Formats: sequence, structure tokens, C-alpha cells
Amino acid sequence: MLKNHFILTVFLVALTPIFLIQAKEPAPRERIRFNSDWRFTHNDPAGTDAHALSYQALKPWLLSTASAFVTIPPAAPPAGSAPGETFAVTQPSFDDSGWRTLDLPHDWGIEGPFDQALPGETAKLPWHGVAWYRKTFDLPASDAGRLVTLEIEGAMSYSAVWCNGRLVGGWPYGYSSYQIDLTPHLKPGARNTLAIRLDNPKESSRWYPGGGIYRNVWLTKTSPVAVAQWGTHVTTPQVTAASASVSISTEIANRSAANARVRVATQLFRADATGHPSGGAIDASPPQPLVLAAGETKPIAVSLTVSRPILWDLKHPQRYVAVTLVQQDNRVVDRYETPFGIRTIEFTANDGFHLNGKRVPIQGVCQHHDLGALGAAFNLRAAERQIEILKTMGVNAIRTSHNPPAPEFLDLCDRMGILVMDEFVDCWKIAKKPNGYNRLFAEWAEADVRAYVRRDRNHPCVILWSIGNEIPEQSKHEGPGMAKELSRIVKLEDTTRPTAIGVSDTAGGYNGFQTGVDVFGYNYKPFEYGKFHAAHRDQPFIGSETSSTVSSRGEYLFPVSDDKRGGRIGHFQMSSYDLYAPVWATTSDAEFKGQDETPAVAGEFIWTGFDYLGEPTPYNDDMTNLLNYHTPEEKARAEAELKELGKIKVPSRSSYFGVIDLAGFPKDRFYLYQSRWRSDLPMTHILPHWNWPERVGEITPVHVYTSGDEAELFLNGQSLGRKKKGKFEYRLRWNEVKYAPGELKVVAYKNGKPWATDTVKTTGPATRLLATADRTAIAADGQDLAFITCKVADASGLMVPRSHPTLTFTVTGPGELVATDNGDATDLTTFSSPKRTAFNGLALAIVRLKPGARGTVSVRVSADGLTPADVNVRPSAK
Ligand code: GAL
Repeated sequence: MLKNHFILTVFLVALTPIFLIQAKEPAPRERIRFNSDWRFTHNDPAGTDAHALSYQALKPWLLSTASAFVTIPPAAPPAGSAPGETFAVTQPSFDDSGWRTLDLPHDWGIEGPFDQALPGETAKLPWHGVAWYRKTFDLPASDAGRLVTLEIEGAMSYSAVWCNGRLVGGWPYGYSSYQIDLTPHLKPGARNTLAIRLDNPKESSRWYPGGGIYRNVWLTKTSPVAVAQWGTHVTTPQVTAASASVSISTEIANRSAANARVRVATQLFRADATGHPSGGAIDASPPQPLVLAAGETKPIAVSLTVSRPILWDLKHPQRYVAVTLVQQDNRVVDRYETPFGIRTIEFTANDGFHLNGKRVPIQGVCQHHDLGALGAAFNLRAAERQIEILKTMGVNAIRTSHNPPAPEFLDLCDRMGILVMDEFVDCWKIAKKPNGYNRLFAEWAEADVRAYVRRDRNHPCVILWSIGNEIPEQSKHEGPGMAKELSRIVKLEDTTRPTAIGVSDTAGGYNGFQTGVDVFGYNYKPFEYGKFHAAHRDQPFIGSETSSTVSSRGEYLFPVSDDKRGGRIGHFQMSSYDLYAPVWATTSDAEFKGQDETPAVAGEFIWTGFDYLGEPTPYNDDMTNLLNYHTPEEKARAEAELKELGKIKVPSRSSYFGVIDLAGFPKDRFYLYQSRWRSDLPMTHILPHWNWPERVGEITPVHVYTSGDEAELFLNGQSLGRKKKGKFEYRLRWNEVKYAPGELKVVAYKNGKPWATDTVKTTGPATRLLATADRTAIAADGQDLAFITCKVADASGLMVPRSHPTLTFTVTGPGELVATDNGDATDLTTFSSPKRTAFNGLALAIVRLKPGARGTVSVRVSADGLTPADVNVRPSAK
């Protein structure tokens, strides 16, 4: 110990003078947020030959962007002028002053308007087609000699980038992040122009993909010798309470024209909440020499130690950070931070998932990437709010269905203690939609897989690499080989986490497909868990996608049917008794039973945590629904039904699957999961609401969710009986309650002792509005958001459940209304509208402060005949 401490001190002292010198110089690595002041237009401007910019024409240049992620480098693009280089739109001289100015991230589809004629499965929004983004910027003369790269975290889709009129690369899969070296084409000390073309083919997605440069864009400036893109890989091969060994492998790239002699040193720090170093170094490597030929990239490895490591876990997600210092000619030419966590993970065949040696049941949700009314445009606060709400429900894991997420999403999961199943794609070679990833698989699968694994492998939150979802090859002879090959590719980049997949065909658990991954995932097969486990005693498995129960917040249908295909309400809503699901799916309760019967299963990922844009099953006539049926008879029946549905004018544009609605308001089911996943939290919840003037004397069943084991229900003070949960029962039901206005009260018990109560009252008429903000102080940076909930209330402040007044949101002061929503899957009002009908008593407004705002913003919500409500949002202290 003493010896180690002495060595550490010597290294730290040896590194100190370099820091002192460096402090006076510009940072060796600058990563500049490059989101502001872009110009945007839909379609190709006049004089642009779309055919010359087809994917086939662009392909050689796009493939060359991916060279660092493939075993066999692609052929160099043909010599001579590249596509688009003669078109005015790519040239610095092009006049884009008539184009719209906007900041990224941007999703043009969410701006609408909704169009009844567009497909419901992609939200009836206009996300498809071609669009251009341009940005002109000054590059300081002092950047001469530096390497300048453009990093696009997500552009939907088939993006191609021109820099000062030259085609410099691009990437077709809209969920991949990529980087382009702009250096050879930039002019330091002058104006420079970027032009980016996107092209979203119709029939390319089963859900709303969004359109645009919908994630952050960065401009990174480094020395020509620097850490390569996503060039560090930190693993912790040995972890005990006394110490953890930390292996850091770092790729150094020499992009200069000369040989480079460098020394590479690495220091370890504890990380603060944002993942940056805090306090002094806790270990450091001596600078190691490395000689790189011109153009060469080489790895260098070190192993460091953290004594008495604080493990990353769900309650205390402590991170560490490795700081790589590259020294050349006695100067630090690069300083690169890699946040990571120290934790052990293991999927066992008999006892589920273990984190740091203890079993942690996966209480997961599948989430699509859209953020409701904000569309696909990534917003950190909106994603954080989603995770906060999910955590209240007891969620500890998210499956990024069915694609890699925004990198910042993983930062949030690291920081907030959420486990992640990080997924590659929704199809391989066999199409689901004609223009889906099937068009790219053959040429891009290796690059896309290696790029996302390399990007995400240092995040402690990531525990599984999912190579796909319900891949049609699961039922074909080529399936097992393809799964094995993709798992092999994953392991070229990371061997510390298992691969996984979501399988919907029962046969995929036995036909060899299961051998293609480490952790097998069944979608919607709780009754198969026992059989699978008996047949594969050594293979861990999980409910990779579960339930798919459908409901609309605050809607109930009588009489209450227990037929899972029931629950459809005339106005395209779904009853919220949580008993209804598509043919291929199950109720939450059936899934719980499957897990309790076979506790070896690692847990589940519910379909879905939040409602999402598109796929409004059961009002979704998309023929890809047929993929969920595995016999010809079932398929034929389903096809006939879908055709009938196609004849009806269905308004639905977002899902009914969410446990939480699109606006972020919990549905009843939220409390069912909370009762199971937070069993220590005293809670109970009654459904339905108790405003049924037309049902006096009629049977109106009451269901209760509780983390207790028993409960007594009272109607207007009269006991309706005390009930106990039986084996494999997850809710308590009073099926014979005759409606009378007044008060329903439940008293829940646990182990015979009073545990929690809930009351639901018949309300008076709506008289006023109430408004609350999730946070009343937010950053005035044009990005942070306040989420304002408006409740339609009676005189005593109770939410009036069946009220639908039209609300108007007015923002005064230095802020703006970004969007409104209400969680109604059939509402075709554009999200940016200040007018929004309340849906069953609730609506949401999303507000931001203008960058640099100093004053308070006041948000007023008003409606005819109701007392308005005000809420203030002010800038937070810096
Ligand atoms: C699954 C599919 C999901 C979603 C879900 C709806 O089969 O993997 O993407 O479509 O069905 O129930």
C-alpha cells in the first residue's frame, strides 16, 4: 500500500508542471456545441438534381465515413467531382437568406400539421421527404494546423454533408452517431459553410421516426495527434470491496503528415454528478512513450487501481473519470475525459440479473426515442423528466427500443441509476417496412453495430447489447448464424456485457436462434418462461418486451369485460381497467404470474413506459401488425380486420400502450406497477373515477392496486367487504359495486396492519383551473424546460375527471410556449398550439426561458367560464 502511494505521489508531482504550463494556453481539445443558427428548408432547391443525390449515388462517400468501424475498409470513392459538388445549394456562395433560421436539435415532422391522410403508425405527421440544413461560420485563423471534426449525434436520415462545396461524408441510419473530419476542406481565418441533406423515405418505419438533425451537433478541435473518436475503453476486470483494477485502453490517432513521438498518461478521479473530475487524482499511470507513423492509429493500455471503490449502483450511482493526457514535445496536446463506473454485472440462468453481486429484478420499460409533444428533437430536461416519472413508478431499467439512443440519454441513466438495454435495430435483411433498415443491413450492419457499441461501452448503465427486435430471421434457417455473427461483431468492441435479442416467435427459443445471443429475450411469452428455462438450464433469459396493455387515461367502458380483446370505446379510446391487450400481448397481471412461476427470469421490459407517437394499436391498420401472427389462419383473420379498420377514418396518431400518457400523466396501470415494484412504499389506488351521474344504481366495478396484501373498500362509509390477494393475484376487485355518488375509500393492509388509504370522490362541476410547474426556476439557456400541469377543478380543488374545456395558455415575459399536450391519442391539434382541450381534466404546457432572460415569465391558463390560473417561472441562479 505504502509503496503504491509513494509511486502515485511521484507520478502526480511529475505531471504537475505540465498542468501549470497548460493552464495559460487554450484548451488542447475544444468541443463546441454547434446547434445554433442553422438555415433550413424542405425539399431540394431549384437546380438540385435529386437523382444525382440518391443513396446509391452517395453511397461510396457515406461508406468511407464508416471506415473506422469495419474490418474490411470500403473502396475509396471514385476520383473526380463527387455528387452535389456542382450544385448551387452546397456552395458557400449560395444565397440561403430566404431559408428559415433555427437551432438544433430540430424535428421538422413534429411541427405538423397532422394530416388525416397520413399513416397513423407514423403519427399522421409529415416527417418524410427531403430537407436541407446549412450553416455558415467563422473559423479563427488560430485554428490553422488543428484538426476540426463535425460530430452529428443523430440525423434522420440518409444524411450527406458538404463542407465548402465538397462532399465530405454522411451516414444513412438515422439513429447512429457519426463524426467527419472537416480539416482538409476548412479555411481558417475565413467564413466556412456546411450543407447537410437529409432524405426520409416513406414506408421506412413502424413508428414515428421524426425528421431532421434531431440530436446535438458538435465541432471538436484538437491537435493532429489526439485520442481517436470514442477512443477509450475502460473496463474493471477485478472488483472487490478493497480495490478495483481499472483497465484503460486508449487509441491515439496521428492525423498529421509526420511521425509523432508522444507520451500518454492517464489519471483517475472521482466524478462529480456531471461526470467530470472532482478532487485530486486517486491513481495515475506514468507517461508511456508511443511512436506513431503519419496517419497511424495505435492503442495503448494501462491498468490502474481504485482502493475501496464506491460502486456504481442504482441508489448511489457514483462514477469515476479517467483523464487521458497526450504529451508531445513537452506539451499536453490532448486531454480527454472518460467517465465510467465500477460495478459488476452478471446474468445468471437460475437467478436473474446480479448487480454488484446482488440480485436486482429488472423492472424495465421499453421506450421509443420521441419525447411526446417535442417529437424526436432531443431535449435533456424532457428526457430527465421522463426518467424521474418512471423512477416514481419503480422503474430501474430502460430498453431503448428499437435503436441506439441519444448519447446524453445514457449520461442521464448513468447519473440517475437506471440500467439500459441498448438496442441496435428493428430488422436485419428481411424487411418489416419496404424502406427500413433491410436496405442497409448488408453494407452497414458491422459499422452501425461497432459505432454504437464503441460509443456507449464506457457507460456503467449499459448492461445488455441487444442486436435486434423481433427479427423476421428468428423463424428462418439463416437466423442463428446471423445472430451469432452480430454477437461476434459486438464483441469486437466490448466483451464485458452480454448480447441479447427480443424474440416474438416461440419457435425462436428452440430452433437454434437462442444460441446466437448470451441472454435470450422473449417478447410477450410469460407462459413460456418455465418451458424455456427447463429446456435451456444454462441460458439466462428475460422478458425483453412485455404486456402491451392498452388504455386511455381516465376512460372506462361498461360493462367491464374480461376478454382481453375488449375495452374499445366508440370515440377511439381504450378502457382503463387494464384488462385489454392485442392478440399477441398480455395484461400486466398475466406477465407478473409468468415471472412469479419462473423466478429464474431476469425481469421484464414493459411495452411501454410512456405513450409514443405513432402505432395507435388497436386503431392501427399498419400491415406490419401481421408480423405478430405466426400461423396462416391467424394472419388471414388479422389481415381481414386490418383491412376493415383501414376503411374507417381513424383519428388516432399516438399509442395507447404507455403506462404513462404522452403528456407524462400516469394512467391507472402506473400504480399497478408501483404496487409490485415499490413494495415497501405504502400505497393504494382506486379505479375508476367516481363521476357517473348516468350510472346511479348500476354495476360499476372497482379495482384497487396496493403494495399491501389486503384491503377494505367503503362506499359512503359503508363497507363493501375486505379482500385479500390470492396466489398470482395482483389487484383486488369489487365487481358488484352499484354506483352511488359520494366517496369511495379504500383502506389497505399489509401483514394485518393498516398500510395505506386512497379516496375517490364525486366532484362538483368544474369552476376553476389550477396550474403547477414541475420546477419554477429553470436555466435561461433556451433549452431547459418547465412542464406545467393544468388541472380542471371543482370548487374544492378536486380534478373533474370527465371535463374537456378548451384551454388557452398565454406566456408573458422573456419566455415562450414550446408545446401543449393532453395525452389524448386522437387529438390532431398541432403540438405548438397555445389552445389545447383538456383531456379528462388535465393538460400540459411546456415552456422555456429565452437565452439570457433575467425576468420572471408568467404562464396563464384560461378557459371560458372557469377561473384562470397563473404560474411563474424564473431563471435559476447560475
Ligand atoms: C411488438 C414490437 C413493438 C411494438 C409492440 C406493440 O411486437 O416489438 O415494436 O410494435 O409489438 O404491441
